[in-house]
Amino acid sequence: MHVTHVVGARPNFMKVAPLMRALSRRDGISQRLVHTGQHYDTTLSDVFFADLELPQPDVFLEVGSLPHGAQTAAVLHKFEELLLTGPKTDFVIVVGDVNSSLAASLAAAKLRVPVAHVEAGLRSYDREMPEELNRVCIDHLSDVLLTPSADADANLAREGLPASRIHCVGNVMIDTLDRELPRARRSGILETLGVVQKEYSVLTLHRPSNVDDAPTLRRLISALGPLTEERPMIFPVHPRTRKRLADFGLVLPRGLRLVEPMGYLDFLRLTDGSALVLTDSGGLQEETTVLGIPCLTLRENTERPITVEVGTNTVVGLSEEKIVTEGRRALSGEGKRGGVPPLWDGHAAERIADVLLASAAR
Ligand code: UD1
Repeated sequence: MHVTHVVGARPNFMKVAPLMRALSRRDGISQRLVHTGQHYDTTLSDVFFADLELPQPDVFLEVGSLPHGAQTAAVLHKFEELLLTGPKTDFVIVVGDVNSSLAASLAAAKLRVPVAHVEAGLRSYDREMPEELNRVCIDHLSDVLLTPSADADANLAREGLPASRIHCVGNVMIDTLDRELPRARRSGILETLGVVQKEYSVLTLHRPSNVDDAPTLRRLISALGPLTEERPMIFPVHPRTRKRLADFGLVLPRGLRLVEPMGYLDFLRLTDGSALVLTDSGGLQEETTVLGIPCLTLRENTERPITVEVGTNTVVGLSEEKIVTEGRRALSGEGKRGGVPPLWDGHAAERIADVLLASAAR
């Protein structure tokens, strides 16, 4: 069986790493890794290959940053060409909900190459999010739907997708977290930043809905102000957000410390040592749940409700009152506690390997 993995953007790398490792331990499987080039900066891409000991990509499509339609079209065009001219592939595996995953699944589905979607079934039911449109399309193009939790299975069933395609396998990102946590804990990032375990918070922000509109970003930054007076807030800034902060000329509170985006190990250490995480990222809602760190999601909804029901996540939107109340609670050690969702146990990739081999044998 020949498998083609497609990655493009930062949140993809930690999902594909355990999968490639699990498949390499099985007999009769050859694999190649295709990087679309959606993310190309060292801090968003290369550092993850080093930290996660990922093999270098076999193919680079070099699409770069473009508007959504053009970026998706560029991957569609180049990946289709690769499938038509390259070695025959039995499965294309896409992860998550980024534009690269949508384009690769569409190219493969049209050529009738089976598609497996890792992290299938997540829904925010908010079509303002580009990722939501990607998720719906990718799931409906896929032959094998590999979900992280039962709520995702239910979403897929509601959309009429057959049960025979749906496999609840757990969360591959947690496979990576479990494997890398001991190494991450040896990182010296807290010392480098001069912060003390449990005496700081972490902020990440990059969703277009939060950062592309000046009044919204101004409101968010001002809502965070009171929390930064109590403890330093470390803010590794995505390039999109850095540009917006500069364009809008926003004045930042003194305790908010902007730093460059970090690699996987340093960022995991930073999260693990924090008292509180504030974020609009999806993956971080899951990682904080497993680490037991209170997380405030700076969005009006989440496609990962299990992190709220079972884990440490609270969806606070952009309400200053909620952000400050919940934030203060967490900073004083009284933040939300929770458990770990079923199958988030470090073995999701092995279950995916079983499903793929069984599908190929049919
Ligand atoms: C993408 C994903 C998002 C994911 C995020 C993680 C989609 C629709 N969005 O958003 O789901 O959470 O990645 O980071 O696929 N840029 C750089 N260097 C890079 C890449 C991008 O400076 O290596 C800048 C460019 O100005 C670019 C902007 O960031 O225009 C946005 O990049 P893009 O890949 O379009 O989307 P993200 O916001 O990163």
